Amino acid sequence: MKDRPLMPEQYRVTALSELALETHSMKVSGKMNSLPGQFVIVSLSGVGECPLYIASHKGSNLEFVYRTDCSITKAMSRLSKGDRIGIRGPYGKGLPVKEMNRKDIYLIGQDMGIAPLKHLVEHLKKAKVARTISIYASFMKKDYVIASWIKEWEKDNPVILSVRSADDGYLGRVGKPEDMLEGIRKDNSLAIVSVREASAIAETLLSLGLKEKQIYAAAHRTIVCGIGKCGHCLHNGRYICKDGPFMRYDIYKELIRR
Ligand code: FES
Repeated sequence: MKDRPLMPEQYRVTALSELALETHSMKVSGKMNSLPGQFVIVSLSGVGECPLYIASHKGSNLEFVYRTDCSITKAMSRLSKGDRIGIRGPYGKGLPVKEMNRKDIYLIGQDMGIAPLKHLVEHLKKAKVARTISIYASFMKKDYVIASWIKEWEKDNPVILSVRSADDGYLGRVGKPEDMLEGIRKDNSLAIVSVREASAIAETLLSLGLKEKQIYAAAHRTIVCGIGKCGHCLHNGRYICKDGPFMRYDIYKELIRR
């Protein structure tokens, strides 16, 4: 760890775009080593800090995706190309990419949970560690622009896409991610669940024959320091910022027990 782990480094904003209503992408340039599933703390002087998953990392180019639902992300969306932004991290354990070698990888994402999956898809493609990737994703209809990522993924791998609720006349699939898991292969596979409440999906996966050790789920708690010091994310003996956010399901299950 660095001498001053809470001190942000300065990164240069290289692109900003609105992907969908209140959903933005920010690309920055700067040095970092990251693993899929890790996050950073973005900091804006005089405004505040917020944690964001890394959605893409190629060379010195990083991408983050966020909803403009707080003062910090609203301020981020008003930045311009060439501006500087403070970033510290990456933090978190990251996903077990070595374990994915020659396995079928099921990526199950919903809404903004798709961001760390994008980073993982990018990694798996480059490292060619997975034999097959199947992606099940579920969005609200207004999030469809993120489906442009899915279109890229679909070139190499099957994708099942649905919305949780739809207007009359909608012709696509409607349902929750756990409704779309039939046919999943239980042997030699790993499932990555990136949704707000992962238990329903994980329990469905278990009922289909996967073991707890074949499932990784993202835990959610308020993250402040990101390095296991402030205690904000401490829950049932685990620090989400340090021990997660993605955890193997046998650990995740203990974490969420009442
Ligand atoms: S965010 Fe401070 S201990 Fe985890």
